[in-house]
Amino acid sequence: MTDAATRDALEMNTRTNGKVRVWDPLIRIFHWSLVAAFATAWLTAEELQPVHEIAGYAVAGLVAFRLVWGLVGSRYARFGQFLKGSRETLAYLGDAGRGRERRYLGHNPAGAAMIVALLVTLSGSALTGWLMAEPDRVAMLPAAPVIVTSALADDGDSSEYGERGEAAGPLKEVHETLANLMLLLAALHLGGVVLASFRHHENLARAMVTGDKRAPGPGDVD
Ligand code: HEM
Ligand code: HEM
Repeated sequence: MTDAATRDALEMNTRTNGKVRVWDPLIRIFHWSLVAAFATAWLTAEELQPVHEIAGYAVAGLVAFRLVWGLVGSRYARFGQFLKGSRETLAYLGDAGRGRERRYLGHNPAGAAMIVALLVTLSGSALTGWLMAEPDRVAMLPAAPVIVTSALADDGDSSEYGERGEAAGPLKEVHETLANLMLLLAALHLGGVVLASFRHHENLARAMVTGDKRAPGPGDVD
């Protein structure tokens, strides 16, 4: 659809019920599938290893989809629409601290920074998990950045693994640290969602289900 046609469709929608479609169906399916896959990976870690690994790969697949959709997806799904520089993000946080941040129809700059943090940390969790699951995989990493290779200083020595291929050592520590970091980020993300929902009198979690948000008013950022 052309930009003009998209605008017309949005305006028509706004006129009929005061709401506009912001999150396309794939974003919503992506979001709630990601929550389910992450929760499953977390809950089955060291309990139900096959399920843990499948859930971890599901996370990786979802993140890969999101990267593509951030380039070719609908308007508010695109990285170019919501990723902002540090100056705008800090200004937004400053305004939020003073209780006078503007309402964004798509992701606000702080939420956008959090999305990047979530996607990067999830990728790291899946990558370290994949490396850990088979000792041979670590050996395939000659070109890995120094930070990763030094964390794997023991070179995937098979003594690092138990009989079932259970990992120990630095790689497992990195995997565990990333998983714990994810828990912290998810909590901050949820806190941000709740805070923004109160501040702008709008249930954002519900909007991630229905796809619709209140039409932009004066001063809102469309
Ligand atoms: C029940 C808990 C959660 C709720 C209610 C929730 C709610 C939301 C909402 C409302 C948004 C849109 C924010 C906005 O309006 O700008 C969002 C975005 C997002 N959330 Fe969550 N979230 C939850 C848990 C999680 C978890 C655990 C993860 C990561 C595993 C996650 C990852 C994301 C990502 C990546 C986005 C960006 C969506 C996109 O544009 O692709 N969320 N979440
Ligand atoms: C992306 C989401 C993932 C999360 C949040 C996650 C989280 C965790 C956590 C919390 C642990 C326990 C660490 C500890 O306390 O020692 C763990 C262990 C482990 N994970 Fe993951 N993981 C993910 C993906 C994966 C993937 C994709 C694989 C492999 C295909 C994997 C393989 C493993 C292995 C082998 C262990 C060690 C189990 C053991 O030694 O008993 N993980 N993971």
